[in-house]
Amino acid sequence: MMSHNLLRGKKGIIFGALTNESIAWAVAEKAFSEGARFTLTNSPLGLRIGQINELAKLCNAEVITADVSVVEDLENLLNKSMEILGGKIDFILHAIGMSKNVLKKRDYDDLNYKDFIQTIDICALSLHKLLQTTSKLDALNEYASVVTLTYIGSQRIFPDYSDMSQAKAMLESIVRNFGYQYGIKKKVRVNAVSQSPTFTTAVKGVKSFKEFYEFADKMSPLGNATAQECGDYCITLFSDLTRKVTMQTLYHDGGFSSTGMSSNLFMKND
Ligand SMILES: NC(=O)c1ccc[n+]([C@@H]2O[C@H](COP(=O)([O-])OP(=O)(O)OC[C@H]3O[C@@H](n4cnc5c(N)ncnc54)[C@H](O)[C@@H]3O)[C@@H](O)[C@H]2O)c1
Repeated sequence: MMSHNLLRGKKGIIFGALTNESIAWAVAEKAFSEGARFTLTNSPLGLRIGQINELAKLCNAEVITADVSVVEDLENLLNKSMEILGGKIDFILHAIGMSKNVLKKRDYDDLNYKDFIQTIDICALSLHKLLQTTSKLDALNEYASVVTLTYIGSQRIFPDYSDMSQAKAMLESIVRNFGYQYGIKKKVRVNAVSQSPTFTTAVKGVKSFKEFYEFADKMSPLGNATAQECGDYCITLFSDLTRKVTMQTLYHDGGFSSTGMSSNLFMKND
């Protein structure tokens, strides 16, 4: 893997690495190879069922448990990270997804509202909780970069995306609103990367994901973007080369979001 040392001297926190398929896993490996130092975090359940300790060894990183929906956990995570890394934070990856309604394959006209609220809390409100906590603790350096991951299901209809559609729409709105506030107060950047369908644990519950993945691959002139390519893109957003990019939903999707119809859809496989 070629390094450009784009993150040399930078300190970060990476949420959401569960398995080596996780998008956050790819981002962590790239950030490490670009010279960053960071802590890794996941929920107690994520630590139990995932392989984050393997990644921690590869990246020489410490793991700190935090449920992203619990403000006290976020305070502890930020304080410990600043202690371990020796100062304020320069970049954060928020790569969190979870919907019980999706996991239970409930129809959209038969959603469980307790689960709906939990989806919103974990997937969207958690970004606000994180930013409000970093702001109160003054935990971010000027021009720090916060990146969250989203999906175009926030803007268009994808039938099995369920309550995640509303969660991602709210997430993208928090990116704009908090990006504005944090930009004025502290010159902090906040952006969302809207990624192609990617095979990870989070999509295991989504009905017909394989067919859907293949459709998106054919629709996108450049094909679906992989987790590794998403890692590369996130590194540019953490780096000093994108200091004036903020409050954006940035499509990293091989061109899918601008394509109405692609001739690839009609091509035979042989
Ligand atoms: N996989 C895709 O097709 C795709 C496409 C676009 C965007 N995304 C987004 O990318 C992000 C990462 O997902 P992924 O696909 O890498 O899947 P993943 O399952 O590997 O990652 C999701 C992570 O969220 C963590 N998480 C869930 N609840 C949590 C909580 N309460 N506290 C802390 N962490 C919690 C999980 O432990 C896991 O590590 C998500 O925001 C997802 O919506 C994924």
